[in-house]
Amino acid sequence: MKQFLFASVALVLAIAPLSVGAQVGIHPQPDGTSWTLQAGTMSYRIGVNEQGMLQTLYWGQRLGATIVLPAAKSKPERASFDPPTATTPLEYPAWGAGLFTEPALKVGSPNGDRTLVLHFQAAKIQEGVLEITLRDEVQPIFVHLFYQPYPEGVLARWSVIENHGDKPYRVEQAASATWNLPQGEGYEASWLTGQWGAEWQLHTAPVQPGTLMIESRRGSTSHQANPWFAIGRTGETTETAGPVWFGELAWSGSWRMSVEDTALHQVRVTAGYNPFDFAYLLQPGQHLETPRFFAGYTAKGQGEASRILHRFQLAEILPSHPQIKPRPVIYNSWEATEFAVNEPGQIALAERAAKLGVERFVIDDGWFGERNTDHAGLGDWTVNPAKFPHGLKPMIDRVHALGMSFGIWVEPEMVNPDSQLYRKHPEWAMQFPDRKATLGRNQMLLNLAREDVKEYTFTWLDKLVSENDIAFLKWDYNRNWSEPGWDTAPAQANGTQNPDAQKAIYVQYVQNLYEILARLKARHPKLEIESCSGGGGRVDLGILRYTDEVWPSDNTDGLDRLSIQYGFTHAYSPQTMAAWVTDVPNFLDRRSIPLQFRFLSAMQGALGIGGNLNKWTAEDMSTATRMVDFYKQVRPTVQQGELYRLRSPVGRETSQVEYLSADGSEGVLFAYLRSQQYGMAYEPVRLQGLAPEAIYQVLSLDSAKYKGPEHVSGAELMESGIQLGLSGDYDGTAIRLVRVGAKE
Ligand code: DGJ
Repeated sequence: MKQFLFASVALVLAIAPLSVGAQVGIHPQPDGTSWTLQAGTMSYRIGVNEQGMLQTLYWGQRLGATIVLPAAKSKPERASFDPPTATTPLEYPAWGAGLFTEPALKVGSPNGDRTLVLHFQAAKIQEGVLEITLRDEVQPIFVHLFYQPYPEGVLARWSVIENHGDKPYRVEQAASATWNLPQGEGYEASWLTGQWGAEWQLHTAPVQPGTLMIESRRGSTSHQANPWFAIGRTGETTETAGPVWFGELAWSGSWRMSVEDTALHQVRVTAGYNPFDFAYLLQPGQHLETPRFFAGYTAKGQGEASRILHRFQLAEILPSHPQIKPRPVIYNSWEATEFAVNEPGQIALAERAAKLGVERFVIDDGWFGERNTDHAGLGDWTVNPAKFPHGLKPMIDRVHALGMSFGIWVEPEMVNPDSQLYRKHPEWAMQFPDRKATLGRNQMLLNLAREDVKEYTFTWLDKLVSENDIAFLKWDYNRNWSEPGWDTAPAQANGTQNPDAQKAIYVQYVQNLYEILARLKARHPKLEIESCSGGGGRVDLGILRYTDEVWPSDNTDGLDRLSIQYGFTHAYSPQTMAAWVTDVPNFLDRRSIPLQFRFLSAMQGALGIGGNLNKWTAEDMSTATRMVDFYKQVRPTVQQGELYRLRSPVGRETSQVEYLSADGSEGVLFAYLRSQQYGMAYEPVRLQGLAPEAIYQVLSLDSAKYKGPEHVSGAELMESGIQLGLSGDYDGTAIRLVRVGAKE
């Protein structure tokens, strides 16, 4: 993790305004009591009020250079029950002085005081970041708030809590930030929840007095909910129009996000470390840094909110940013062979995959240790000699000779009790003394918070990648935490163990995970990594700084995937969204969907194939080759273009998505029909985002399904739409658009 150096705090520091191009800016008012942050089309303004409290003044559409907003002022006591601390829209509310709403910070002091009252101390602007320092009026607790605007229209916020005293303090709750929306009623919130095999379910509901709380207590991001939110105005906000305040927390451990509508209708979003079972002891001189909480605003609806996030992820977050590499078409053997992997079987699949135009071959679980089922072997990361008698090299050489790169599955944070590693180091597993460990998929977690476990994990991964020509790791994580003990957690300065010290596991584990990933990437700059957790259990902007793609779900059913991907793209870019075409009937729903539909579904992100190619007929192979070829033509547009969700698949018979390249020269439309009813013709699909006066060449994947003219204007495509001949069940097609000139 980045370490911050803190200059000694002066009362007011010299402030140089930042203005990089017109896109981002940090503008202090001359009196040094308020700041306006410009990020793309968004402005954000904060100020210090007459009581020294830092409060939100504005969050919304970008404002002009001359800002005439009222100065910061605390709310008057409305009644004895509503003190100013509870009603003023504070930027980082600490529990104290009568705060009855969700705190961003709660700290216990050695003298028994459990409150804080934070006052403004200083501000500085450095390397594009505004840092505001607050301190408690009594205790030597300093809080540094950081604001970093990005040109894509996103503002990052995070905090660092420091102990300047000579006794230990206990952080009991620490959020990254609180975001205050314009005061008032009539908001509606969208959020994402799910479960294994059914992640990314989108919900939208009115924001009501009270609190909507989404969280993970599972030690990782979770399938259960994702740390993303979008808030619009009821009746005003749609997919294509209206205000949206949105954001996502970059943390891969337990987290909590609350959307709170206070008694006085101040809507606030607070997110950070999950306070459940949380404590972090700050020894004298120590600090705790909270994760980045990114947020933005658009006046152009949910679709544009997603596109801002997608652009931001490509430009600022993903490991190869801003030069994003295309995701290769991969083959993965998991659904074809499960644990029954061996050299001849994998080579046979690789030979078939190469014929389809696959660019990367990935061996999944089962290649190491005594890993013949999910009961044994995790932790023993040496090649199984019965399955690969000559090691991985002959396999990798053959894959390379076939023109593909090679990838391999790992699950570095886990151990089976039935493994050499566990027999040698039972103390490395995460557990409480004397308590029976709860197993999940017959496995336990390794306590990555421990230095020795961290070093061991990095060392074997580094060796694996150094000794073999591995381009890609599929990094899996197949259970959640149950006994988060850390009995060797660092003791206090006086040598005594405080049981609360163990709770630092919630922070240290994830920081060590990030460190291992960062070190691996630094040692092997070409190595690409996928974050998988039994599907989409660990997808967030924290892990995406180190992983090039994610596995959104173990559910590979081509129909379910449309809804899963619909939800996913609200928060994350199609570039990161891996999807495979697998065999039918699907292992989960027993549904049989035609191969073309399965391909069209998987083409919405990073295409992969996961079926048993030995069983594919000549016709299947020919369809697949045609599909892979088409995908490669539209891949840059899909992965790095602008996504328009034209029609949601959720609960619908028809759906469509459209992508446009950033320069507008190319587009692609994917259209799906689940089941035709009453012989009704497929409704014309009206495209979005095209240049009305431009002429587009319409290149159809299936000539039988598009019989319209070859050249059509943007205006016609958007207003009268495109007619497609889809019929029956599970029909689908794709149209590629190439801009060829302006209308005469
Ligand atoms: C869960 C993953 O999501 C699957 O794709 C597969 O890799 C299995 N684990 C292997 O155990």
